Amino acid sequence: MYLVTGSTGGLGKRIVRSLRERDQAVRAFVRLTSRYGELAHRGAEIAIGDLRECRDIDRACQGVQYVISAHGSNASSGSAQAIDYRANLDLIEAAKAARVEHFVFISVLGADRGYEDAPVFKAKWAIEQALKTSGLNYTILRPSGFASNLLPLAEQFRQTGIYLLVGDPQIRTSIVSTDDLAQMAAVAPITEAARNQTYAVGGPEVLNRADIPKIFGKIFNREPIVINPPLATVDAVRTVLGLVSPAASNAIGTFRTLLANEFFCTPAETEILETQFNLKLETLESFLRRYVGIY
Ligand SMILES: NC(=O)c1ccc[n+]([C@@H]2O[C@H](COP(=O)([O-])OP(=O)(O)OC[C@H]3O[C@@H](n4cnc5c(N)ncnc54)[C@H](OP(=O)(O)O)[C@@H]3O)[C@@H](O)[C@H]2O)c1
Repeated sequence: MYLVTGSTGGLGKRIVRSLRERDQAVRAFVRLTSRYGELAHRGAEIAIGDLRECRDIDRACQGVQYVISAHGSNASSGSAQAIDYRANLDLIEAAKAARVEHFVFISVLGADRGYEDAPVFKAKWAIEQALKTSGLNYTILRPSGFASNLLPLAEQFRQTGIYLLVGDPQIRTSIVSTDDLAQMAAVAPITEAARNQTYAVGGPEVLNRADIPKIFGKIFNREPIVINPPLATVDAVRTVLGLVSPAASNAIGTFRTLLANEFFCTPAETEILETQFNLKLETLESFLRRYVGIY
């Protein structure tokens, strides 16, 4: 039995799909308020709970062989401290108590860079250390940005031709197909080479941010109109927000870190992924075409 947290999220639902396609037994940890009909329909067992509640985590881990931690803080979830940090610590403890055989943790590319202003990165780094010393078998996946994040922007572009690019257009990124990442997470527990390993996970190409509207333009056959406000705009919003909500201002720190820095994998790193997980990484253009239905 696999336990998948964050199973209603962009990545988690794809992990559940991937496991169910392989006919594996899956328990999907969900909140009562979430939309989990698709997961139940695919044959996942539904464990309703809240990751801020230790007893929900303990109960969900009963009888589980593998844990895949794919949850993350969002607008309605609780803070990075509660969800990215504390809930993962509790999950590791519960997994140990339940004698789980393998724990897969979705971290983030750059978790090891010591970004002081990014609570999510700090939580990921702390959890990586906790997992490595837990005694559990583990695989840590450190992905760059997900291709699925771009789907709403692609739909917007299809309607308007407009693409909002905040900050330096030359910054490099290797956006990963969310389906490829889900597949790696799903097979990591049964992949001998992935035991107790940490992987940088990106797509097969290093793109400049400015390449993204060009790819949209190619797919939808229209000239992109790129609106390019400087990063200082985010800083200005943050300063104003900080006056009314310090918590929201802190959360923007992670967002700003993502905008201000490069997150890409080297060819050597992607080659390791393809070899060890036995897959051919998909380009951003191919991912987008599949989802928007234009080939
Ligand atoms: N998106 C990216 O580009 C990116 C890049 C690198 C790493 N990551 C990491 O990858 C992981 C998955 O990201 P994602 O984009 O798929 O996340 P997402 O779409 O925002 O989904 C977050 C998931 O966590 C669940 N969750 C949040 N708070 C919860 C709580 N209190 N109790 C139970 N479940 C809770 C959410 O449930 P609800 O449906 O109830 O809200 C949802 O299923 C995260 O760890 C993230 O940090 C993401």
